[in-house]
Amino acid sequence: MPHISSTLAVPSASDVPQHVAIIMDGNGRWATHRHMPRVAGHGRGVEAVRNIVEACAVRGVRYLTLFAFSSENWRRPADEVTFLMRLFAAALRREVVRMHANGIRLRVVGELTAFSPRIQRLIRDAEAKTQHNTGMTVTIAANYGGRWDILQATRRMLAASPAMAPADITEEALTPFLQMSFAPEPDLFIRTGGEQRISNFLLWQLAYTELYFTDTYWPDFDAAALDLAFASYRQRERRFGRTSAQVTNGTAVESPVAN
Ligand code: IPE
Ligand code: IPE
Ligand code: MG
Repeated sequence: MPHISSTLAVPSASDVPQHVAIIMDGNGRWATHRHMPRVAGHGRGVEAVRNIVEACAVRGVRYLTLFAFSSENWRRPADEVTFLMRLFAAALRREVVRMHANGIRLRVVGELTAFSPRIQRLIRDAEAKTQHNTGMTVTIAANYGGRWDILQATRRMLAASPAMAPADITEEALTPFLQMSFAPEPDLFIRTGGEQRISNFLLWQLAYTELYFTDTYWPDFDAAALDLAFASYRQRERRFGRTSAQVTNGTAVESPVAN
């Protein structure tokens, strides 16, 4: 069932964000500061993923979405890209066993045809193996770009209904075709590594997400760092266009924005 856009419906307030989306940045600098090759940082980054998946599951997060490789990351030196692909394949084999044992459902979003047939098969197998799990859903964004997501959704929507009139192109018509249609929109966005930008991550879905930036490099981002982000989230007042007084009174959002 598609979820209603959080710009139209206010999700119930909760201490723990239901959906956390993370740009895992700073692996290269973490390694460079230690006089290690950049790729050593990526290796440590996988360990951080393992810890944060577990910490989020323990805290009751329902959806964790991790930006692992952007559509722009192909521009990196060929040997770094090759290393990242090997690491992705190894993680799909090793980490999925652990996730499955913990009842986690794994999804991978992005333009996956760009990956080798072997990686595509590992992705399909991992998704199939974990599809009936009822624990937290971990989504890996790989060769993902927010603009591409909106365009592919538009193309697929029009392919499904070629006779669509312009007035029929609404948020409700489009969102089922977005890559993250199986999840509510993120409540909390975290970017590690000190940069304060979205870097073409979930552009549509982050419309009303609380944004949190930290200088901590991704390999150093642990459960304590996650708790700081959650503490910051708890202090935010999510107004979704209403006034502060309306939020305090619990006034519902009645009329959805015109499309
Ligand atoms: C994020 O860390 C990992 C990927 C983009 C794959 P970076 O590799 O971007 O690390 P910095 O930003 O260069 O430190
Ligand atoms: C964003 O990090 C993408 C991922 C973490 C996968 P980048 O390091 O590639 O972003 P920019 O280039 O600094 O914006
Ligand atoms: Mg970076």
